[in-house]
Amino acid sequence: MRFVDIIEKKKTGHALTKAEIAYWINGYVNGTIPDYQVSALCMAIYFQGMDDQEIAWLCEAMLYSGDVMDLSKINGHKADKHSTGGVGDKTSLALAPMVAACGGKVAKMSGRGLGHTGGTLDKIESISGFHVSQSEEKFVRQVNEIHLALIGQTQSLVPADKLLYALRDVTATVNSIPLIASSIMSKKLAAGSDTILLDVKFGEGAFMPTPQDAEALAKTMIRIGRHFGKDTRAMISDMNQPLGNAIGNALELKEAIATLQGKGPEDFTTLCLEAGSIMLMQSELADTMDQAKTLLQKSIDSGSALDKLKAMCAYQGGDVTQIEDVSRLPQAKQVVAMRAKTEGYVKELHALQLGNLAMRLGAGRQKKTDTIDHSVGIVLNKKAGDLVHQGDVLAYIHTNHDLDESWIQDFHQAYAFAAKKVEKKPLIEKIIESS
Ligand code: URA
Repeated sequence: MRFVDIIEKKKTGHALTKAEIAYWINGYVNGTIPDYQVSALCMAIYFQGMDDQEIAWLCEAMLYSGDVMDLSKINGHKADKHSTGGVGDKTSLALAPMVAACGGKVAKMSGRGLGHTGGTLDKIESISGFHVSQSEEKFVRQVNEIHLALIGQTQSLVPADKLLYALRDVTATVNSIPLIASSIMSKKLAAGSDTILLDVKFGEGAFMPTPQDAEALAKTMIRIGRHFGKDTRAMISDMNQPLGNAIGNALELKEAIATLQGKGPEDFTTLCLEAGSIMLMQSELADTMDQAKTLLQKSIDSGSALDKLKAMCAYQGGDVTQIEDVSRLPQAKQVVAMRAKTEGYVKELHALQLGNLAMRLGAGRQKKTDTIDHSVGIVLNKKAGDLVHQGDVLAYIHTNHDLDESWIQDFHQAYAFAAKKVEKKPLIEKIIESS
C-alpha cells in the first residue's frame, strides 16, 4: 500500500477501505507516515467527507491505537458525559456529583483547556492538593465506594488522537465532522463507560457555528456510539454567550458549588438538570425526565450532591474546607467593576471574545506549556436579553494586574446593545435520542 494512493483516492471523493484507514492510523502512530502526508489526507477529508462506515473504521483504528479502560470491576452502570467545549462550561463539576448522589456511577476522565475554552481538570485543581492522576485500581475503588471520580486522561489512551489533533490544529483541519466525531468518540469509548451523553454546542464560542451543524455532528457521534453498542444521546446547546456567569477556574468552581447549594445561575442549573436527567434515564435510575429532574433537585435541596463533591475532593487529596468556605479558594488581588457606557438591552455577548479576554488575564493557555492562574477571570453581571442602564455593572474582573486600555476596549466590544427588548433565547435547542 502507498499512502499517496490513499490521499489521491480521498481527494477524488472515494471511500477508503478499513485496511487503508488502519494503515493510515497505525503508520502515523508508529512514525512511518509523515505529518505532511497526513495533513494532505486530513485536508482531503475536510473537503470530501467520509461516510458512516469510514467514520466508524477511523474511530475504531484510533480507539485501539492505545489502551482501553476496563471498568468492568465497577459494579453497575457507568454513565459518561462529554461537552464539545465552550466558555464558562463548568458542567461536569456540578453535574457529576448530582448524578452520583442519585445513584449513578460517574468514572470521569477530563482534559485541560487550550485557547478560549477552559478544561475541567484546571478548574478542579483550584482546590489545593486535589490530584487528577491515579492508578486504574484506585480509580475503580473510588467509583465503587463513592460513585464518583474525576481524573486526567492517561497518555496511553488514544495516542493517535494526540498526534492527529495537534496536526489538525496547525493545518486548519479541526472543524471537519468526520474528524471531530472520530476524535471525540474514540476517547469516550476508550474511557470505558456504558453510556455517553454528548453536549454539542453551537455558536461563536463553539466548533459548530449553527444548531444544524451541531445536530449533524451529534448524529454522527450517536451513530458511532451505537455502532459500538453504547447508548449514546445528545443535547444541542447554545454557546453564543458564556454558560452561567463565571469564566475562569476558581470562579467557575465557586459557581458550580453555588449551583450544588441551589444558588446557581438559572441557565447553568437548567443545563445540569436536563443533562443529569438524561444520564439518570440512561442509567435506568429514572423512567421519565420529570422523575429524574425531581431526584436531581432533591440532591441539591438535601445537600447530598454537595456532599458527593466533598467526598470526591477528600478521596483525591483536596482541601475540603475550600468547598465549605469558598473564600479559601484562590482569590485575585483586585476585583474591577466594568460599567456600561450606554443604555439598552444586551443583544449579544460574544463568548469567544470573553473567553479570549479571560485567557489574557491568565485563566487559560495560549500554548500547552503555559501555566494558568486559578484566581483570575470574569463574572458576568448582565447577559443577553438583560436591560442595562448607563453606569450599571456589566461584569466584575478578577485580576492580578492592572487592566490595560486595549483589554478594556476589547471587553466593551464583547457586548452589543439594542434599543428594543431582546428575547432571551433558549439554552437547550434540542435533545437527540437517535440518529
Ligand atoms: N474536541 C476533540 O476532542 N476533538 C476534536 O476534534 C474537536 C474537539
